[in-house]
Amino acid sequence: MPFHWLFPTPVLQVDLQPDQSTSAAMQAELEAFDRNVFNHPEFCDRNNLTGDLLGHAGLDQLHRLQAFEWLNHQLAWQTNCFLKELLGEEHALQVHIQKAWPVVCSNKGGMIEPHTHRNAQLSAVFYVSTEVGNETGELEFQAPDDYFSHVMSVPYQDAAISGGVFAPQQHRLLLFPSDLRHRVMSYNGKAPRYSVSYDLAITTSIGQGREMQMPHPMDWVPLVDELKQDNRPQ
Ligand SMILES: [Fe+2]
Repeated sequence: MPFHWLFPTPVLQVDLQPDQSTSAAMQAELEAFDRNVFNHPEFCDRNNLTGDLLGHAGLDQLHRLQAFEWLNHQLAWQTNCFLKELLGEEHALQVHIQKAWPVVCSNKGGMIEPHTHRNAQLSAVFYVSTEVGNETGELEFQAPDDYFSHVMSVPYQDAAISGGVFAPQQHRLLLFPSDLRHRVMSYNGKAPRYSVSYDLAITTSIGQGREMQMPHPMDWVPLVDELKQDNRPQ
């Protein structure tokens, strides 16, 4: 068909190769999370568990653990490649990890409902462990709700080209715009599946703020500091 497809969405997919000790260290952290949190009576009936939902201190700060230093470094490199490809070699932007959290998908139909990450600009998923040959629990990206329905009465779910499905593979990294809606389809396997999600903020360098770009957080002033003076404004 003579279609011209407009407005592509960039999703980066790369298969990383951690050495055995790095891989084992990340696996051990996910197993500890699974053992200590998922098996807690409060959570054990869930079909998935994501560290950032619980409101427990530290569960969304996985990137501060030594076990994830290697992955942080890989992510820095890949994100820079992503930005250079889109914006050119001299993009001069900086990338910050806002949070990173473990995700456990139950082996009996574990899934995550469609959502976006409104707090971030770029998000990433890294599969810490998957089962060889098991492609269930795919990550599906979806076009915005109104992309088709504004111009024709076709629900976006019925349009075959509305989404992209990415197969999970051990040590695969996916990087995508955070406002791109996505879900995890039903996972079935012998064991729970472990992955890590990152939310990233893209800012200018310190003191280099430009119109329509988020300044570096060092250029921000917390407004709450004004309250410490304990004086009602006159
Ligand atoms: Fe997500």
